[in-house]
Amino acid sequence: MQPSFIKDKYPSGKFSIALGKKQGTICQLDIPEDPILQDKLLDAIERAANRLIDDNLVVQYYKVDRIQGVEQLGTGMLDQSLLKLPKKPKEADGWLNIAVLEGVVVGVPPGPVVASTGQIGKIVLEREFCSVNAGKKARKCDIILKFRVEDVSGDDNGSGSVDAVSEDVDYEVVKNAMEPLLKSEIRMPEGLQLKGILEEADIMEAAKALKIDAEANANAETSEEAKGDDEMVVNAFEVSGKIDYNKLVDNFGSKLIDPELLKRIERLTVGRGTVPFLHRFLRRDIFFSHRDMVKICDCLEKNLPFYLYTGRGPSSGAMHLGHLVPFLFTKWLQQAFQCPLVIQMTDDEKFLFKGVYDDENGDNLDYFAQLTVENAKDIIACGFIPEKTFLFSDLKYVGTMYPTIVRIWKAVTNNTVNGIFGFDGSSNIGKIAFPAIQAAPSFPASFPVVLGTSKESANMACLIPCAIDQDPYFRMTRDVAHKLVPKSHPLGGKPALIHSKFFPPLQGADGKMSSSDENSAVFLTDSNELIEKKVKEYAFSGGRETKKLQEELGANLAVDVAYQWLRFFLEDDEELENIGKDYSSGSGKYWSTGNVKARLVDVLKEIVSEHQERRDKVTEEVVLEWMKERSIV
Ligand code: TRP
Repeated sequence: MQPSFIKDKYPSGKFSIALGKKQGTICQLDIPEDPILQDKLLDAIERAANRLIDDNLVVQYYKVDRIQGVEQLGTGMLDQSLLKLPKKPKEADGWLNIAVLEGVVVGVPPGPVVASTGQIGKIVLEREFCSVNAGKKARKCDIILKFRVEDVSGDDNGSGSVDAVSEDVDYEVVKNAMEPLLKSEIRMPEGLQLKGILEEADIMEAAKALKIDAEANANAETSEEAKGDDEMVVNAFEVSGKIDYNKLVDNFGSKLIDPELLKRIERLTVGRGTVPFLHRFLRRDIFFSHRDMVKICDCLEKNLPFYLYTGRGPSSGAMHLGHLVPFLFTKWLQQAFQCPLVIQMTDDEKFLFKGVYDDENGDNLDYFAQLTVENAKDIIACGFIPEKTFLFSDLKYVGTMYPTIVRIWKAVTNNTVNGIFGFDGSSNIGKIAFPAIQAAPSFPASFPVVLGTSKESANMACLIPCAIDQDPYFRMTRDVAHKLVPKSHPLGGKPALIHSKFFPPLQGADGKMSSSDENSAVFLTDSNELIEKKVKEYAFSGGRETKKLQEELGANLAVDVAYQWLRFFLEDDEELENIGKDYSSGSGKYWSTGNVKARLVDVLKEIVSEHQERRDKVTEEVVLEWMKERSIV
């Protein structure tokens, strides 16, 4: 998006972006009419601007001959007020100043400049003065942004003068920088996220149109508690309401995986020949957020060793497809990086949070211990590298981690844990102690035999693939991490994270699946017939009510569970795209819900039956082998 005029003086600014006569002509992103959604657009712009600042991009300035500049580059990127030639131009008016930074080219009004974006303070949009004109009634579409720069301090800000810049313009460089601007593509991760939000807004519209009770969409394991259906709750124990992943990333303070990072990951995995292509979860933005993934890439480039850590709380014997998501991805990461992996089974956690005691029969701690073995079979069936994988049950292994756990206990206060996890004086003391136990495997010291005790082992970095609801544990971990590793550790002890979105339940595209509702999930033990029945009967459809309407309007893919599940499990990008095209236009082979569901059923039957075959081979003895304390480096 290019500004057409720039006004105001640093540290505040105002500019407008003309989007042409009609929405949708400039960019893939339609500018929404709904003021609430327009506000989200402003949010995205604000976030993107601040990310450019965080990324500290170098800015290059060029002094361009006005006539030649316009000839070479067009008028699009130039400040209109600068463009207008005075009737009788003085010599000084014959020049234009432009700034070029990664993927952005702008005309620069007179005034101070910065050498890199990092010198700018936080940008805050002044919402009262910002406006978005769009929609059917608007004759032309534009966005007006007024902002101020906060935290203006130090001599660095706005020092330097635009006059001190190169007159030696390489128009090719400038044109290359402009090229992405001229395509109607979304370039920034914030734009992609916004697109997701707008699509989710479509979901709500569609749900209303189809008179779907929002109740039916409530999907968390503990959503019985009275609260608004829409209110988003995501913490370590509950996921409910309409999930705004963007807001989550904002609230949690993690980072979106941007196209640049994705390219780097591709170079370091596919480029090394260990895997044929990027995992579909990465290609499709399902693993979408991270902490310090960039540093893990640095480690890879420098050949510094790291290990993967993930886990599961065994709350029921039956695992479903959603539970496989982090493990399938972890398997791919292990294959790609050829690195060690530890998998924690938190049988202790599930007993502390869900266990029972009665005077007659005692408690059910042993039951959770047994679930660990049952779930371990499903996890092993995912196909990790046996000699590089250590699987452990907290109840059995915790002794070896104990020194690490004690150090974490010492470093974290009750207030911190209560603040993060919402415990209070009535919580059993095990709950309060538990976060340290989930934190401990982030540190190599927890695995003296498995990872070793050499200096190199102690400096191993740790990468945790998990669903984003597990992030609170690791925020706590990262805060105290420096106390648990040698000073030379490449990440200061902080575990890196890569986060996934939730796999939607059959009844609706938002939120996380529930193991307690038989029909909200496809279990790994389901028969072919049962899979077919569940998908056909329960998968929420984004298709229209009649054939005629479906042909006219096409399906709403964003709410359609069958389509969403295909995004998770159908490998072939081209086929997925074709299905999406047909279904959303109501034409071609996959014009109808029935046909799309039938395709999904085929995909799931294959995945589940292959899984069952592999699982059948995993006996209790095999589980014990994977759980044996042994070197995996
Ligand atoms: N608390 C997680 C759950 O309930 C299990 C878990 C333990 C985990 N350690 C982990 C998950 C590390 C992801 C990464 O399922």
